[in-house]
Amino acid sequence: MASEQPEIVEKRTSSAIPHWSSGDGDVTSIVDGDGVTVYDEDGNGYLDFQSQLYCVNAGHSNERIVEAIADQLARIPYVSSGKHNDTRSALAQRLLEIGPDSMARTVFSISGSEANETAVMLAREYTGAPKVLTRWRSYHGATYGTASLTGDTATHTAIEGHAATTGNAKFLPPIPAAFDGATGEELAEKAADHLEFVIRNEGPESIAALLTEIVAGSSGGFTAPPGYYERVRELCDEYDILLIADEVITGFGRCGEWFGVDTEGIEPDLMTFAKGLTSSYVPLAGVMANEEIAAHFEEEGFDVGQTFAGHPVGCAAGLAAIDVYEDGLIENVRAVEPRLEAGLRAIEDRFDVVSSVHGRGLLWGVEFADPETGEPFVDPRISDADNPVKDVLEHAAERGVLFGLGRPGIQLLVSPPLCVDADEIDEAVAALESAVESAF
Ligand SMILES: Cc1ncc(COP(=O)(O)O)c(C=O)c1O
Repeated sequence: MASEQPEIVEKRTSSAIPHWSSGDGDVTSIVDGDGVTVYDEDGNGYLDFQSQLYCVNAGHSNERIVEAIADQLARIPYVSSGKHNDTRSALAQRLLEIGPDSMARTVFSISGSEANETAVMLAREYTGAPKVLTRWRSYHGATYGTASLTGDTATHTAIEGHAATTGNAKFLPPIPAAFDGATGEELAEKAADHLEFVIRNEGPESIAALLTEIVAGSSGGFTAPPGYYERVRELCDEYDILLIADEVITGFGRCGEWFGVDTEGIEPDLMTFAKGLTSSYVPLAGVMANEEIAAHFEEEGFDVGQTFAGHPVGCAAGLAAIDVYEDGLIENVRAVEPRLEAGLRAIEDRFDVVSSVHGRGLLWGVEFADPETGEPFVDPRISDADNPVKDVLEHAAERGVLFGLGRPGIQLLVSPPLCVDADEIDEAVAALESAVESAF
């Protein structure tokens, strides 16, 4: 009977089913890493310009973080999330020091999705209103609750088949594909007017919160035009809507400041984070809340929880990672950003299939479109034809550099660990240039 194994077994390289897999391709097995480089099981090295999932901010195998994890493991590996613990309290205090002034307390969680669900739960309970506004072309998670908030079509369509989506309305992002505008200010105004229309149309009293990524993450690295977030903050104040910043990707230095909101000069009411908090060495996430919301839940209690939320080993990793970011990595983001931007802009100038390059810090999107029509070559939301953007990624990997496929896959994402240096940037940009040349 053993000789009659189905063909799929021969193709299999692992008994684990990878996430985000289409089931039709080889999936690389990464077994080692150091700094910006990861190694596959054949010993091939790759510059990791995706930071795995935009999350290994400190680079791979940072010794200070690894040691902090080991020390915590040796002392006490686990303490109930219903009790206090010194490492957890120290991290909550440290987050206050680096977080926006409006933030007062932290509720820890495990993943970015769960942090967003917690933030939404807090917002709904605090305001008594049921709805949350999020934008099309956003990503907030893939659990039942967050998939309905996520604007990425593939994600929310996949989950909506299993769970009813409730209490969400979407608005359009402030990007030229959604609104005409000769200047950034005009674009900001049109996008904010549209948001106000959505708020009024949904009924302001029914809206608990607006949840948004300050710089788009996997949905494309796009930034908002000047003045947009100022209006968003004003609209939230005017209509009594809580502003929740999803800092799961933008947090912990990715965009050149501690948090994305710092790059826009706005203060959120709630803020969620995960990935970069521990450089993803250990799962840990959290929600910070402003004084009024925190005081409300301290008085009323917070009668739900999760076993692994605020895991002490994660908190130890978080404390060490924050020290690492503070000791030069955030500064490095600011120092190397111009070199990365210049390299990507040169690619945009050289190839007319590259329709737009945009980003902030070390979070950039490179979008492709047919120069004849201005439309994506293949839009995965409406077609499953072969996508040349995926070919670019494959050619780049053959040249030893990993980039991310955006959601939707009309774009790729460039997001290296924050310890990347100028030579590594030059090497990655050269690989990308040559990959675009091969794919088109
Ligand atoms: C902006 C943003 N929010 C939330 C999430 C969900 O985080 P997790 O995958 O840890 O649940 C992600 C994941 O990529 C994200 O990019």
